[in-house]
Amino acid sequence: MFSIWFLLLVAGISCQDPSTDRAEWKEWRATVGKDRSYQNANDEEEHALAFEKSLILVKENKLAFEKGEVHYTLALNEFADRTDAELAVLRMDAESVKARKEYISNLKDSVDDDDSTVKDNKLRSSFDWRQYSKAKFPEIEDQGSCGSCYSFSSMFAMEAQLAIFNNITTSLSKQYVLDCTWYVDPKTLLNRGCSGGLDIVTYEWLHANGKGVPETSVYEYTGENRVRSCPATTSGPTYKVKSFRHANNSETLLQENLLRWGPITCGIHASKKFQLYYDGIYHEDNCDSADIDHSVVAIGYGSENGVDFWILRNSWGTNWGQGGYGKLMRGTNECGFPDTTAWPQVTF
Ligand SMILES: *[C@@H]1O[C@H](CO)[C@@H](O)[C@H](O)[C@H]1NC(C)=O
Ligand SMILES: *[C@@H]1O[C@H](CO)[C@@H](O)[C@H](O)[C@H]1NC(C)=O
Repeated sequence: MFSIWFLLLVAGISCQDPSTDRAEWKEWRATVGKDRSYQNANDEEEHALAFEKSLILVKENKLAFEKGEVHYTLALNEFADRTDAELAVLRMDAESVKARKEYISNLKDSVDDDDSTVKDNKLRSSFDWRQYSKAKFPEIEDQGSCGSCYSFSSMFAMEAQLAIFNNITTSLSKQYVLDCTWYVDPKTLLNRGCSGGLDIVTYEWLHANGKGVPETSVYEYTGENRVRSCPATTSGPTYKVKSFRHANNSETLLQENLLRWGPITCGIHASKKFQLYYDGIYHEDNCDSADIDHSVVAIGYGSENGVDFWILRNSWGTNWGQGGYGKLMRGTNECGFPDTTAWPQVTF
């Protein structure tokens, strides 16, 4: 009780009548969190406190949104009761973030020289690959309690190629990527299963080894580390990386590359606030663009009431954002979003 009031006071939020204390928590437990179970009373209390922190962020956001200071809203979604440790599991750990940084700093853009000759001077003001795809994109997936964002983002970039250009809707095996790219480069500690990894390393390994990724239906996702369990062969159709590119883009170049090649994997710093994102154009003032710990896919862009945004696809289930998709402010180099971009071409 004390801590809740204390937190509310610290956050400068006007306190409600004590009789409504934890009303939101009870409501959340009865709805969004009805399937959550806790080990014991202490465990439940820990999660109730984590929820109160989320509640503060949501209330602050509501005020800021009403004043027109921000263009997005947060929600008490299924992440609302997660402790910081539980939220961290979804992201790359510190070792992976560091390894990623080192790897990126030695990377030269792989875009061919002639790429500059295809610049589209009449860039469309808005674009969404979902509207220009031959087949429907596969359903949004949920990486669960595993820092496998890089597997989901890189495999979705391949799935998008198949849908857009080949009229194939399929889900490619994220577990195969976890099992097969584990420690492919021990020097850099990339990739490390559920601890984190990099889209570029994934494309590189698949390309260099000529390995085809099987479909999820034959190689299911368990979200576990299964070190050195990469199978020599798999059943059913498989899909290979024919080529891949990566670049540290200006946002205009990212726009051009997106139009030219299809959806692009991008890194982002994922804060607790980002995990509670619901709708609108997300923006964070104090985002360290060097601290990238999550990977998502840019699938389009646009503008709303004079605010430019990217459309991104996440891998945190359909309850995050708008059915698993979100919008991120464009033109502000948001959280390092355009700094490391990559995209594959697929063959089968
Ligand atoms: C995509 O495939 C479906 C089903 O096989 C077919 O009906 C449709 O015409 C195809 N669309 C395009 C654009 O090729
Ligand atoms: C990308 O370019 C920007 C602007 O030149 C720079 O600030 C940033 O550090 C670069 N990022 C990487 C990962 O090289």
